[in-house]
Amino acid sequence: MEKITTDIQKLIRNHIREMEPYSSARDEFEEVSDQNVFLDANENPFGTATGEPYNRYPDPYQRAVKEKLSVLKGIPTENIFLGNGSDEPIDLLFRAFVEPQKENVVILPPTYGMYQVSAALNNVELRKVALTSTLDLDVEGILNAVDNNTKIIFVCSPNNPTGNAVSSDKIIQLLEQFKGIVVVDEAYIDFSSEPSFIGKLEEYENLVVLQTFSKAWGMAGLRLGMMFANKQVVDIFNVIKPPYNINQLTQEKALEALDNVDKVKEMVATLLSERQRLEKELSEISRVKNIFPSDANFILIQVENATDDYNKLVEQGIIIRNRAKVLLCDEGLRISIGTPEENNRFLEAFKAL
Ligand SMILES: Cc1ncc(COP(=O)(O)O)c(C=O)c1O
Repeated sequence: MEKITTDIQKLIRNHIREMEPYSSARDEFEEVSDQNVFLDANENPFGTATGEPYNRYPDPYQRAVKEKLSVLKGIPTENIFLGNGSDEPIDLLFRAFVEPQKENVVILPPTYGMYQVSAALNNVELRKVALTSTLDLDVEGILNAVDNNTKIIFVCSPNNPTGNAVSSDKIIQLLEQFKGIVVVDEAYIDFSSEPSFIGKLEEYENLVVLQTFSKAWGMAGLRLGMMFANKQVVDIFNVIKPPYNINQLTQEKALEALDNVDKVKEMVATLLSERQRLEKELSEISRVKNIFPSDANFILIQVENATDDYNKLVEQGIIIRNRAKVLLCDEGLRISIGTPEENNRFLEAFKAL
């Protein structure tokens, strides 16, 4: 089938395309230097109550972080947007592209819950096309579900809560045959043997890739999400985002983390070997009916009575995620990979149930 080209400008909602951004003090005068007297942003000149220097507003475009990230990922800074978690770009995708009560998006359950929450918040119709029984994309079903008012298809790979990466050939079929935006949410990509889709950004202008500092980087508490996309998408996000969406502390810690990539690799290696150990040990327990293959830092299993197991573990202070009632995950339990000690505690309690 012939590849469809996407006109990003046409996809943007009319009033957003014409919007003027808020012009912050740091937009109007960028050069922060000790020589200048800054009396333009209504900040407190004396400093912070804690004694640390957080009295000044942060860089609205996180330039230093993007420079380092650009080198690590091999993606130009103009194709990078940083959000307050990847939940922020998910919400901005709706605001930029999808007209409430008129246009729609497609999600592929079972999948990450925030796409549905963001759709509801933005008053946007949600169309659901279930994954196949092998937890892969039903490309034909998806293309049948889209119409001229469909703006975004959300693909989560590796998928939450099932843990598997979906087939990249099928994602490419969507990119080539759907003229709207295809989001590939790669929150768990660092735990996967599959390559990231960021390498395909130049080829497909309708591709948006989401990643996060919350998982492999261990920075969930600091809230930093990444979007890699066509410059036109990044530009419009910079117009509609809150001016200082990434705080100073998070920007500083991200710079520090980007100098410690080896530590991230080391943590990922440990988590992967623990994942393998958990898979092996769980496979020896007869109550475990199915273990879904995982490309993520969690494992989804199916048991005889998930809610019963879940409640008994909670009583012992071991908290996993009960997915018993989720489509295609009947009697499912999702277990995040912990430290070796945490995993031992879980295994010991789970075996004894
Ligand atoms: C698939 C997926 N995408 C995005 C997120 C959100 O990540 P962040 O912490 O960057 O908002 C999660 C969090 O669990 C997730 O599972």
